[in-house]
This record gives sequence, structure tokens and C-alpha cells, in this order.
Amino acid sequence: MKRVTIRTANRETSTVVCAKHVFRERLAPMREKLLSGGGMIFTDSNVFEIYKKKIARYLGGVPVFAMPAGESNKTQETLFSLLEAMVGAGLRRNSVLIALGGGVVGDIGGLAAALYMRGISCIQVPTTLLAQVDSSVGGKTAIDFYGVKNLIGAFKQPDVVYADPAFFATLPAREIRCGLGEIVKHAALDGALFDTLCAGRDALFDLGFLAKIVPSNIAFKAKIVRRDARESGLRKCLNLGHTTGHALELFDGKLSHGEYVLLGIIYEAEIAARRCGGDRDYLDALIALCRSILVVDPAEIDAAKAASLAAFDKKNEQAGEVSLVVPVRKGEYALFKMAQKEYERELNAIREKL
Ligand SMILES: NC(=O)c1ccc[n+]([C@@H]2O[C@H](COP(=O)([O-])OP(=O)(O)OC[C@H]3O[C@@H](n4cnc5c(N)ncnc54)[C@H](O)[C@@H]3O)[C@@H](O)[C@H]2O)c1
Repeated sequence: MKRVTIRTANRETSTVVCAKHVFRERLAPMREKLLSGGGMIFTDSNVFEIYKKKIARYLGGVPVFAMPAGESNKTQETLFSLLEAMVGAGLRRNSVLIALGGGVVGDIGGLAAALYMRGISCIQVPTTLLAQVDSSVGGKTAIDFYGVKNLIGAFKQPDVVYADPAFFATLPAREIRCGLGEIVKHAALDGALFDTLCAGRDALFDLGFLAKIVPSNIAFKAKIVRRDARESGLRKCLNLGHTTGHALELFDGKLSHGEYVLLGIIYEAEIAARRCGGDRDYLDALIALCRSILVVDPAEIDAAKAASLAAFDKKNEQAGEVSLVVPVRKGEYALFKMAQKEYERELNAIREKL
């Protein structure tokens, strides 16, 4: 068992526990408290279908609200349906909401816990690889609104996160690739994680290997969040690969988020090599790592569309400009800005070379 504690500057505390068999070991002992204190489980339709027997065996009697699965349901309707269910279940100020699912459930559940009676306890039980290494850690919660991803949200640290690698056994390969996108991003920011991934390159889809690398990824994200919980500075480094990745995701949308992040890292690593004096050998190794996970051809992108969408990214400070966080050397990144037209030319030139 590994435990990581996050204390933020405004004295919020959150503990992440990496432990196998979370239902039996961690949640079952809480059943009586959840029943008497008005606890509730929030999950999605897929996770509920797979794990309903376990929920019944270990947490029988605790009310369950299952949202329809998927990012398209990360909406105000789902949020308010959940809040209504919380009222219906009689949740009080000392109640606990357990968010059992991927990043969508975690983000909506965290926001509902932040809003209900101005804030009740939230326990995150992340069931996807992405949710374990990224979204459940750090206290960002949100819903999508007016077609804009994560437009309405709040910072609220979960009381506890139970990251159980046993959940990976039921994940489709696409969701493993999705989580690997954020893991490679962490490796592009941290030299030791990069070495671990390169050494385990042939085992990236091996569930035992993934279970081993989850705690160090959580520890890495926790280190960043401790120093900058509200993304006013350092935490922005976690956007590495995301400007290009998000732009591709916006107009294409066929792959998982993490796969777009991998495409974003490939293009931004090339930009770093061409424009920011990046270490060519290191960046080639990083690109090879991304390509070994992807099942699509990185050359098949529409540079003009990507550039026009990247120009609307929230991180940009000026119109017509694109802000990037690019990998430059092992464990080092740089903040880099380019005019939209110049960025489009670079994407096109890189696409032709790939
Ligand atoms: N808060 C943050 O800091 C942060 C960081 C990164 C991403 N996010 C958010 O996370 C979301 C993406 O999260 P995600 O990739 O986990 O997506 P998701 O929650 O939609 O889960 C992906 C799919 O896997 C299914 N699933 C979940 N666990 C499963 C399991 N154990 N076995 C089988 N199927 C399972 C879900 O039902 C869903 O269909 C996005 O909304 C993104 O904005 C938030």
C-alpha cells in the first residue's frame, strides 16, 4: 500500500491511498457509517453494470445514483439530477459522497460535493487509468457548459482517493491508451518517470506494470498540486502536449482524450526540437514512446483546423497567438508562444516529415 498526502496553501488536505481490493478492505468497513450518516454512491451506467454485485455485497443499502456514461453527459442536467438524488437520500452536512468511476464521474461528483450544503466530504474511487493517475488527484471539479469543456467548476480537494489497480482488469484497451497519454505527459516532465517508461516500453499494456507505475504518477501530480493547487503558475506545466492535443480533439473527437494528448506531445516535441533548441535524441525517444502506444498515424491531421482551434485555447493571452508547454530535455519543459499562422506552418511541415 502506498499513501500520498496533499496539503494545499489554503490548508485543504487530501490523502491518496493506492490499495488493492478497495471494496473489501476500505469501503465495506464504512458501510454502517454511510448508512447512519447518509452516505451515497455516485457512479455511471457502465461501471454500475460491471460492479453492481460488489456494491451490493459490500455496501448494500447505501443509495446509488448512476449517471448515463460518457463525456456527453458531463452536463448541468446530470449535476442537478445528482443533487436532487442527494436531497432525496437525505444527505446532511456530515454525509459523504463516494464518486466511483472515471474522470467524468469524479469531476461531476466532486463538484456536487463542493456545492451541496456549501461542501460535504467526497471520497474518490477512480476506476480508469486516467482517473487514477490524473483526474482524481488535485481537486479540480467541473461540468461542460455551452459546449465548452469544464467551463463551470470549483477547486475542492477530495478527503480521500482510493486508487485500486484491480479496476484496470475490466478496462477496454482504448481506456488504457487514454491513461497512458497522461502517464507519458508526466514522463515528459519528470526524468525518473521517463526512464521507468522507457525501461518498461514492452510492458506498457501489462496490468501488473501499470499497477506498479500508478503510485509514482500520483506522487508526481501531488508534488505539483501541493505547490500550486489553483494553477496560478507551476501547475500549468501539466498542460504539456494539451494545446495541440485539445485542438485535434475538438474537431475530430474519434479517439480518447489521452490519445490526442499523445499526438499533441509528438507535434509539440517536434516544435521544441525545431524552434526551442530541444535535445533531438531525447525528443526522438519521447516521440517513439508516444508512437508505440498510438494505433493511429500521427501524420493524418488537418493542420489548418488544428491551428484555428488552438488559437481559441484558454491558455492563450493574446488573440492570434498560440501558447504551448513543450518538452525540451529530459525532465525539462519550456513555455513557448507562436503566431497562429506560424504554428500552422510548423504543424504542416512536421506532418509531412512524420
Ligand atoms: N479534474 C481533473 O484534474 C481532470 C484531469 C484530466 C481529465 N479530467 C476529466 O476526466 C474526464 C475523462 O476521464 P476518463 O477518461 O476516465 O473518462 P470516463 O469517465 O468517461 O470513463 C471512460 C469510459 O470508461 C468506463 N469505465 C470507467 N471505469 C471502468 C472500468 N473499471 N471498467 C470498464 N469501463 C470503465 C466509463 O463508463 C466510460 O465509458 C474528462 O471529462 C476530463 O475533462 C479531469
